[in-house]
Amino acid sequence: MTSMPNGIRIAPSVLSIDLARLADQVARALDGGAEWLHVDVMDGRFVPNITFGANMIAALRKMTDKPIDAHLMVVEPEHYIEPFAAAGASVFTFHPEATVHVQRQLEAAKKRGMLAGLALNPGTPLTYAEEVIGDLDLLLIMTVNPGFGGQSYLPASTDKISRARSLLTAHRSQAFLEVDGGITTQTIGAAHQAGADTFVAGHAVFASGDPAREVRDLRRRCLVTV
Ligand code: DX5
Ligand code: ZN
Repeated sequence: MTSMPNGIRIAPSVLSIDLARLADQVARALDGGAEWLHVDVMDGRFVPNITFGANMIAALRKMTDKPIDAHLMVVEPEHYIEPFAAAGASVFTFHPEATVHVQRQLEAAKKRGMLAGLALNPGTPLTYAEEVIGDLDLLLIMTVNPGFGGQSYLPASTDKISRARSLLTAHRSQAFLEVDGGITTQTIGAAHQAGADTFVAGHAVFASGDPAREVRDLRRRCLVTV
């Protein structure tokens, strides 16, 4: 494997939480050692589903000091930079097809004190990231087509993760390499071995009945593939 500068982090996605139990479920995931919380923001336009906005970031910010990892599946993410920063988001990741001026939005997110991330759908080539690689704090490889939790990991993703890791290494980038979609104890090993260091998991963590145990199991599966 090529160099891995960042260690491992598990980022449970609140998308799969029963919202009636939000605070309790978040606390359990954090008890299990989750390093980040992932928030899937969907506008019903970039993806066929509507979820949360800055109000969810603000609610989570009251529950924890851990990094809040906002994943914007929205058109024109530029309109969300200011409100998300104000609400306490730590990472601001968007999709390159969603805005005309990708580099400008990366810079704007950083100016507001957030880490700037770019997310690539399964059919979106890595070259989108290569053009702005010096501006990236995080590269998110989607391992499902975004829109819904609980989908299956696309096997072709593993090769794309490897190529993304090689790209980051070639450019001496310290950016996080995150994967999102269908991450379970069955699939996390392959994604980790391919070079991912940051793992989003929604269904696996919150449909398990024991979020803390599931977070620990996910991490353990990574460690046995080192
Ligand atoms: C997919 C979202 C994911 C989703 C992952 O549209 O970006 O973050 O919550 O969910 P699971 O882990 O259930 O595939
Ligand atoms: Zn996501």
